[in-house]
Amino acid sequence: MKISSCVLLGATFCLVQGRPFVKKRAVNDAAILNYALTLEHLEATFYQQGLQNYSHEAFMNAGFPDPFYANLQEVASDEHTHVTFLTSALNAVGSPAVAQCNYAFPATDPKSFVALANILEGVGVSAYLGAAASIANKTYLTAAGSILTVEARHNAYLREALGQVPFAQPFDNPLDLNEVYTLASPFITSCPSTNPQLPVKAFPSLTMTPSGNVMNGSTATLVTGAGFNATGNSNLSAAFITVTGPVYAPLKSTGNNQFIVTIPEGVEGQSYIVLTSSMSGVSDDNIVAGPAIVEVMAM
Ligand SMILES: *[C@@H]1O[C@H](CO)[C@@H](O)[C@H](O)[C@H]1NC(C)=O
Ligand SMILES: *[C@@H]1O[C@H](CO)[C@@H](O)[C@H](O)[C@H]1NC(C)=O
Ligand SMILES: *[C@@H]1O[C@H](CO)[C@@H](O)[C@H](O)[C@H]1NC(C)=O
Ligand SMILES: *[C@@H]1O[C@H](CO)[C@@H](O)[C@H](O)[C@H]1NC(C)=O
Ligand SMILES: *[C@@H]1O[C@H](CO)[C@@H](O)[C@H](O)[C@H]1NC(C)=O
Repeated sequence: MKISSCVLLGATFCLVQGRPFVKKRAVNDAAILNYALTLEHLEATFYQQGLQNYSHEAFMNAGFPDPFYANLQEVASDEHTHVTFLTSALNAVGSPAVAQCNYAFPATDPKSFVALANILEGVGVSAYLGAAASIANKTYLTAAGSILTVEARHNAYLREALGQVPFAQPFDNPLDLNEVYTLASPFITSCPSTNPQLPVKAFPSLTMTPSGNVMNGSTATLVTGAGFNATGNSNLSAAFITVTGPVYAPLKSTGNNQFIVTIPEGVEGQSYIVLTSSMSGVSDDNIVAGPAIVEVMAM
C-alpha cells in the first residue's frame, strides 16, 4: 500500500505514515549537470556549425532580416557560455565533465537551420523544467533556472521569426531525462569514451506526420522506430505530456508499427506525444515509444 502510493504518485516524494520522505535519488546533481551539459554541447555545436555554414547574407536572403543574424550570434554565444559555466561547476566539485560529442544535424539551409534551432530550444526548456525537481542543491537549481529562462527567451524569439505564436500556452511541458535523451540521441553520432556515463536511455523513436501546424480534431500518423516490439504491445494509448498530466489522444493501429492519432483539445505549441501502455499516467515504466514532437496550432 505504501509502496504502491509512491508508484501511483510517480514522484520523488511519497507519503509514509503521514510523513513525507524523499525517495533515494536515482540521479545525483553531478549527473544532472552532465546531462544539462550534454544538451548544451549539442546546442553550442549546432549554432557554431550553422553560423559557419550560412552567411549573414544567406539568412537575409532566406527571409531573416537584420538584426536576426546578430541575435543568432548572441544565442550562439549564450550556449557557449552555458557550456563553460556547467563545465566549471562540475570541475569545482571535482566531478568529471562530459566533453563535446560528434553530431549529425539535418539542417541544409538557413530556413531548416532556424526551424531545428527552434525545436532544440523548445526541448531545452522542457529538459531544464523536467530536471528541476531532481536537483538537490539550491545553488544549482537557481543556476539551472537562470539558464532555463534564457533558453525560453531564445525559443520565443525563434518562434516569432518563424511566424509561430511566440508563447503558445500558459505552461511549458516538462520532459524527463529519458524522454529528452530519446529526442537528442538521433543527433549524437559518437561521444568520447572518457565521458562519464549518463543515467539515461532512449526509448524507441516515434515520428509524427505531419509534425507542424496540426489542429485539434485533425488526424496525424505516428510511426515507431527501431526497438519497438508490436507483438508485446497490442493495447497502447497515445498521450501528450503536459505539466498538469497526460492528455490522451484517440489512437488507432493500422499495423506495420503505424498508428493514426486524433489531436485532442488542450495542447498547443511545441508538444510531445508518447505511446504508452498505461491509461493512468505517463512514466519511464510505461512509455513504449517516443516522444514525437509536433507543433499544435491554436484554432
Ligand atoms: C554544416 O555543414 C556541414 C558540412 O556540410 C554539415 O555536415 C553540417 O550538418 C552542417 N550543420 C548545420 C547545423 O547546418
Ligand atoms: C551547493 O553547491 C555549491 C556550489 O558547488 C556549494 O558551494 C554548496 O556548498 C552546495 N550546498 C550544499 C547544501 O551542498
Ligand atoms: C478545437 O478546440 C476548440 C477549443 O478548445 C473547440 O471549440 C473546437 O470544437 C475543437 N475543434 C475540433 C475539430 O475538435
Ligand atoms: C516481442 O514481444 C514478444 C511478447 O512480449 C516476445 O515474445 C518477443 O520475443 C519480442 N520480440 C523481440 C524481437 O523482442
Ligand atoms: C485496453 O486498455 C483499456 C484501457 O486501459 C482497457 O479498458 C481494456 O480492457 C484493454 N483491453 C485489452 C484487450 O487489454
